[in-house]
Amino acid sequence: MTAAAAQPIAAIAQRHLLLNMTANGSLGGEGEDLLVVRRGEGPYVDDTDGTRYIDGLSGLYCCQLGYSYGPEFAEAAERQLRELSYSPLWTGSAHPTAIELAERLSRIAPVDIEHTFFSSGGAEAVETAWKIARRYHALRGEPGRVKAIARRGAYHGLTVGTLSFTDDPGLTEPYGPPAIDTRFVSNTSRFGLAPEFADDEVWTAWLLAELEATILAEGPETVAMLIAEPVQNRGGCITPPRGYWQGLRALADRYGFLLVADEVITGFGRLGEWFGGDRYDARPDMVTVAKGITSGYAPLGATLVGTKVTDVLNRPGVVLNHGYTFAGHPLSAAIALRNLEILERDHVLDNVRALQGDLAQRMAALKDLPIVGDVRGTGFFYSCELVGDLDDGGFSDLARAGLIADLIPRRLREAGLLARVYNRSAPLVQIAPPLISDRSVLDRIAAIIAGVLAEASARI
Ligand SMILES: Cc1ncc(COP(=O)(O)O)c(C=O)c1O
Repeated sequence: MTAAAAQPIAAIAQRHLLLNMTANGSLGGEGEDLLVVRRGEGPYVDDTDGTRYIDGLSGLYCCQLGYSYGPEFAEAAERQLRELSYSPLWTGSAHPTAIELAERLSRIAPVDIEHTFFSSGGAEAVETAWKIARRYHALRGEPGRVKAIARRGAYHGLTVGTLSFTDDPGLTEPYGPPAIDTRFVSNTSRFGLAPEFADDEVWTAWLLAELEATILAEGPETVAMLIAEPVQNRGGCITPPRGYWQGLRALADRYGFLLVADEVITGFGRLGEWFGGDRYDARPDMVTVAKGITSGYAPLGATLVGTKVTDVLNRPGVVLNHGYTFAGHPLSAAIALRNLEILERDHVLDNVRALQGDLAQRMAALKDLPIVGDVRGTGFFYSCELVGDLDDGGFSDLARAGLIADLIPRRLREAGLLARVYNRSAPLVQIAPPLISDRSVLDRIAAIIAGVLAEASARI
């Protein structure tokens, strides 16, 4: 037995692993606060002690199929690796699996999107969209379109480029000025706003007027693209009002910038459609995806590029000087193809469509709890925004530390649910369960959250 094997695995992690977005130095003496997940089955995962949890967050919003399809994916992976383990999509070279996947994606993508540029994950897909937007404008004689527009509170990745599309100083500091000159406009949350904004028409008009004013103030000839999620994850499953995406399309057409739908979370069934934008009749110029494209069985990202853009990009002699070694890796592409096949064969999107009404009702009922200020979401994607002990609905430092940072996450875990508890700006409890979850799993998730938030309400 090696020295490492004699130690608890969490302690080894603490000595050797730098976790993402984690206070690595505060994990407790021997890593006892660390959840080490060893195996998965259906919508459940088990930790190294054998404790079972409902994976209410699909890993990190990616395990659409849950954890029981391993043998099928292993068969697809083995077949691919026996035939071809690697081949680049670089300088005029390609391989059949990526080609087949690109063709398959064009069939489910919004109507005017035919081409795909592959990458390894979401942030790379978003940076690709930015670089393609810049190339597109430069090739059309508008190199001065150097600015992006993003929405407040949004998250599009943590690379130096994609960080520019995030206005949260907690994420951007201490990394210096943003790489991309970005302006921020309101997201579509209306929680806490005047009652008149409950009307979709009023809210949409306000949001679009703000956006148009921003574009005009900056100079339309300087704006390259706007990036937005169909339902914004950060800030808590923020759905758009009716007419919003049509308004974005109209402004993009009027002022000549490209509209990018970031579907890294909302794609591949999360909202009951192949793309979340389909729910809102969004017609973007590019769509960024990752996560659910493989249901988390392999890493892959992709930027789906509309014909308006590829008509310019694919002009004879134009070199697309951008790329990644592992773009569309044969293994990941084979897994993605099998994932799309399974999602269709096993009617997984139909499962979301069939159960989303019940889940909506169960989640809406949480609004009766004093600590719940708002419930937002759609499909298999919901958040409760919490309100606290201060007059303005905020939380005192004491309540934040006691409830949001401690009691709520601890009780959810003790009750056997992995859900996300945000303890920044607006405190939230969020779920994005695997899309294969049945009614009993969804009911259990809602019941656990109700129980924990009832206890938290009593302590305010
Ligand atoms: C909307 C959105 N875009 C981009 C990303 C970045 O994806 P990745 O972590 O694969 O780089 C994320 C990650 O959560 C995301 O939620």
